[in-house]
Amino acid sequence: MKALITAGGRATRLRPITYTINKHLIPLANKPMIFYAIEKLAAVGVKEIGISMNPGETELQKAVGDGARWGVSITYIEQKGGPLGIAHVVNNAKDFLGDEPFIFYLGDNIVLGSLKRFVEKFEQEKLNCVLALSKVKDPQRFGVPHIENGRIVRVDEKPSDPKSDYAVTGIYVYDKTFFEAFTHIKPSPRGEYEISDIHTWLIENGKAVGYEEITGWWKDTGKPEDLLEGNQLLLNEMADGGREGAEVDPTAVIQGKVSIGKGTVIGQKVLIRGPVVIGENCKIENSYIGPYTSIGRGVEIYNTEIEHTVVFENVDINCSKRIVDSLIGANATISSAHATLPLGHKLVVGDNAIVEI
Ligand code: G1P
Repeated sequence: MKALITAGGRATRLRPITYTINKHLIPLANKPMIFYAIEKLAAVGVKEIGISMNPGETELQKAVGDGARWGVSITYIEQKGGPLGIAHVVNNAKDFLGDEPFIFYLGDNIVLGSLKRFVEKFEQEKLNCVLALSKVKDPQRFGVPHIENGRIVRVDEKPSDPKSDYAVTGIYVYDKTFFEAFTHIKPSPRGEYEISDIHTWLIENGKAVGYEEITGWWKDTGKPEDLLEGNQLLLNEMADGGREGAEVDPTAVIQGKVSIGKGTVIGQKVLIRGPVVIGENCKIENSYIGPYTSIGRGVEIYNTEIEHTVVFENVDINCSKRIVDSLIGANATISSAHATLPLGHKLVVGDNAIVEI
C-alpha cells in the first residue's frame, strides 16, 4: 500500500511560529510533527509515501529527506490549483497513487497506537474506505458521521447540528473508488472539495465504508494550546530515552521519565521532573524543569523555572521567573529585566506574537 500525507496550508493561526517554519515541522516531544505520521506508516509496511506540499516549499524536503531513515521512499507532490480542500489534495496526487489502495494521513493529526487495525479491516472486509472515528467534545469543528444501526449513512462537514459526538479523524484508507467519487463532488460553500462529501458519495452510491473507533487522537486545530496538548500526549507515550552522553551533576535531581541528549550538561541546583525531553548540547543550571516540557537542542537555561512548555532549538533563557504553558520559537532570548538599566520589560516581539507579562 502507498500513502499520502498532507503538509501544505498556511497555518496563519500559529503565527509568528509559522512565519519561519512549516507547521508540520513544529517539534512535539522534540520531533517534527510529520515524523510521527511517517513512522506510523512505515510501521505498517508502507514503502512509498507521497507528501503533498505548497508550491515552492523547500524546508520540508530538507528536514524529511528521501525517507531512507524510515526505510521508505518519499515523493514530494506540489499542490496545484491553490488550496481547494483536502479531497482535492488527494486527487492532485492521483498519478502518484495509481490504482492501488492507499492510506491518506493528514499531517497535523497524531494517533497513538498502530494503524494496523485500519488496514486489516480494509483488507479483511474488502471495503472501499475505512474511517477512523474519535469521540470529541466539539464535533461541529470536524467531519461528523451520521450513524444508524452501526453503519455510517452520511458524513457532514462541520455541521452546526452534529448527528453524533464523533469526529472523522484525519487517517483514512481508500481504494481507487475515491477518484470516481471525486468526479461527482462540487466545492462546498467555503469553496473546498470536502473529504466528507467524498464519504457521503461513496455511501450513497453503494460503496462499502467501514469505521473503527480510536482513542488517543490529537489534532492541531491551529491554536498554541493545542500544540502544548499534543506535546503532552506524546511525552506521556515516549519511551525513556535515557541520558547517554550527557553530563549530569551529582547534585541534580531527576524524577520520572526524562530523556537527555548527548553533549548536554545538567549543572548544579537543577530539578527536572518528567515527563521531559531535553535535546543535545544544552546547558541547564540552577533551574527547575517541570512536567510536559520539551527542550530542543542547543538551549541554555539558567536561574529559571519552566513547565508545560515547548522550547525550540538554540533558545537562551536566564530570567529568574516561572515560565508556563508557552511556545518559545528558535533562537529566542528571554533574560532578566535586571540585567540592564532602566528596569522594565524590554521586548522585541515578532508579528502576531502573544506575550503575557
Ligand atoms: C479536516 C476535514 C474534517 C476532519 C478533520 C480531521 O478538517 O475536513 O472532516 O474531521 O480534517 O483533522 P480541517 O482540519 O481541514 O478543518
